[in-house]
Amino acid sequence: MKTPHIPLDAPYSDSQRAWLSGFFAGMHTHMLQSAGSVNQADARVINILYGSQTGNAESIAHDAANIAKTHGLKPLVKSMDEVEINHLAAMEYLLIVTSTYGEGEMPDNAQMLWEAVSADSAPALNNMKFSVLALGDTSYDLFCQAGMEWDRRLAELGATRIYDRTDCDVDFEESAANWISAVIPHMADGASTTVIVDVEASPAEKSQYNRKNPFPAKMLVNRLLTAEVSSKETRHYEISITGSGLSYEAGDALCVVPTNCPKLVADILKAIGCKGDEDEPVNGESIALHEALRTQFEIKLPSKELVEEIASRSGDQELNGILESGDKDKLADYLWGCDILDLLLQFPQIEFSAAEFISLLKPLQHRAYSISSSGKTYPDTVHLTVASVRYESHSRQHKGVCSTFLADLVDDETEVRVFFTPNKVFRVPDDNSLPMIMVGPGTGIAPFRAFLQEREYRNASGKNWLFFGDRNAATDFIYREELEAMQQRGLLNRLDLAFSRDQEEKIYVQDRMRANGAELFAWLEQGGYFFVCGDAYHMAKDVDKALHDVIAEHGKLSEQQAIDYVNQLKKDKRYVRDVY
Ligand SMILES: Cc1cc2nc3c(=O)[nH]c(=O)nc-3n(C[C@H](O)[C@H](O)[C@H](O)COP(=O)(O)OP(=O)(O)OC[C@H]3O[C@@H](n4cnc5c(N)ncnc54)[C@H](O)[C@@H]3O)c2cc1C
Ligand SMILES: NC(=O)c1ccc[n+]([C@@H]2O[C@H](COP(=O)([O-])OP(=O)(O)OC[C@H]3O[C@@H](n4cnc5c(N)ncnc54)[C@H](OP(=O)(O)O)[C@@H]3O)[C@@H](O)[C@H]2O)c1
Ligand SMILES: Cc1cc2nc3c(=O)[nH]c(=O)nc-3n(C[C@H](O)[C@H](O)[C@H](O)COP(=O)(O)O)c2cc1C
Repeated sequence: MKTPHIPLDAPYSDSQRAWLSGFFAGMHTHMLQSAGSVNQADARVINILYGSQTGNAESIAHDAANIAKTHGLKPLVKSMDEVEINHLAAMEYLLIVTSTYGEGEMPDNAQMLWEAVSADSAPALNNMKFSVLALGDTSYDLFCQAGMEWDRRLAELGATRIYDRTDCDVDFEESAANWISAVIPHMADGASTTVIVDVEASPAEKSQYNRKNPFPAKMLVNRLLTAEVSSKETRHYEISITGSGLSYEAGDALCVVPTNCPKLVADILKAIGCKGDEDEPVNGESIALHEALRTQFEIKLPSKELVEEIASRSGDQELNGILESGDKDKLADYLWGCDILDLLLQFPQIEFSAAEFISLLKPLQHRAYSISSSGKTYPDTVHLTVASVRYESHSRQHKGVCSTFLADLVDDETEVRVFFTPNKVFRVPDDNSLPMIMVGPGTGIAPFRAFLQEREYRNASGKNWLFFGDRNAATDFIYREELEAMQQRGLLNRLDLAFSRDQEEKIYVQDRMRANGAELFAWLEQGGYFFVCGDAYHMAKDVDKALHDVIAEHGKLSEQQAIDYVNQLKKDKRYVRDVY
């Protein structure tokens, strides 16, 4: 199929923008090499570097490359960890697309290059022209911090910003498409002639279902994995994708679009003094308020705008004092465990019209889940392993939106709207003979169940080692029978367990890593892959520290040599993480 001619430097029309957005909706449209008029050898090279944890930035980088080709440019797309500082210094035209992770941090694959660029010894970049697209989420304090830092640092090193940075919230598609359509003509300025490109649908596009149009799936299985008496609730779900035309790989995530709990909707309506049948315009449609609150808006976690409005209208000294101080930690402490209903109940004197209230809410977002099945073993279903978020706070029971949507609200009749996000680096190694070390406490076990299924499907000869842990062995040893059967079949060669609350002192997976450091190092030396999944804020950091320590001790390396060893693992994509 041929696309229409797209003239150089033409401002994009709405239909072209819509076409661009289609790239994002389909996530992986591939435009093949230009059929056309520019000799590739003469084309201007533009470098597109991405920093990405779960594939959004990577996908946008490829989309930008496809559009660049239509302008006669020669785009080179690279993960940031494939680039050395001296290569960066030689780049004349550079686009950076990066997400932000952790608490305002670089994604894993951007860290090494960022360290080099931010060092005092970093080279001047006077010949470089650049622009940055930053991905983030406004619910985090340090919104788009990684992109901001790249933007600042490149300019500081003398590079010329040829188009202003764009910061994107979770619904990044339109802003990203606008950035691409604006920045590529700047990159192409004076460089080339018009080309014609061929467009071929990628496998992902063979389905009509994607982020913009989630598949209405059916839940087949909802099974409690933890014991009834456990202090936590972790569930196994099996969701049918039959008829969707979709497929997935072990390591991918499934995004679930939840709806809110009707009881919470009713309580909020009561608190703001609305009946719920008021029609409100939402995304160009008129929807009854109760339905809008159930399906369209985040009604659990308060937006910054709502908190500020409540502070201003209530005149509450404490809340206003915290907001004026700009102290984010204090605000986080104030809001800890506090949802929108708690705030409304705390300030009952404040009245909102329906329209005012919804203007202070954020759109209801999907939640991602690491898939716990292999798409080869289970092509028609997707398995998830989900901890239900339930806690008591402000004298009320609170429930996580999506985890309890799956647990409590989905029945045989309910549609579960889902789409996939591929994670291209979090993959079972192509070489079936190489060892895999997997660290996945709690729900972090999810992708490793998938990896083990995948290794079995492939009849892979490589050794497999799983570090798993949770609170108590008697109640929280999820998938125990499956794992023990895998051990007996010789699929799972080592299983090291850390149950943190079975004894006085905490025992965690990283303690097991240290205790088995000599063997762990030997597996790495044999070309082993090291995977981590689960909590990003505590576990993944402590596991990273333990990995460095094990390598230093058993490799007889200095601290710096151990850092270099780990950096090489990262570059080789042999140390990859799926942390959240
Ligand atoms: C790539 C990726 C993969 C993931 N994979 C998995 C997975 O395999 N399994 C899984 O279970 N999750 C996974 N998650 C997390 C998942 O996406 C959701 O964040 C999780 O299910 C909670 O969503 P929720 O809508 O139920 O809760 P939300 O409505 O989003 O509420 C969560 C919020 O509630 C508050 N909160 C939670 N507990 C407490 C407490 N005890 N006290 C006070 N406040 C509290 C916190 O503010 C927290 O941010 C993954 C996330 C990502 C990004
Ligand atoms: N970023 C996030 O928002 C995030 C990330 C992960 C999980 N969660 C939430 O936590 C709940 C349960 O999640 P989960 O089942 O994945 O895991 P989890 O219950 O948080 O933890 C699983 C195991 O990891 C242990 N652990 C705690 N701190 C650790 C550390 N620093 N290093 C290594 N292990 C550590 C826990 O021990 P102890 O509890 O005994 O200390 C427990 O044994 C869910 O509600 C989930 O949504 C949130
Ligand atoms: C654990 C975690 C931490 C995050 N931290 C931030 C943050 O500090 N600031 C921010 O703006 N966005 C943050 N985000 C949002 C991501 O940047 C956003 O989802 C982005 O689209 C991910 O793109 P990627 O798939 O290319 O990594 C975080 C997301 C996750 C899951």
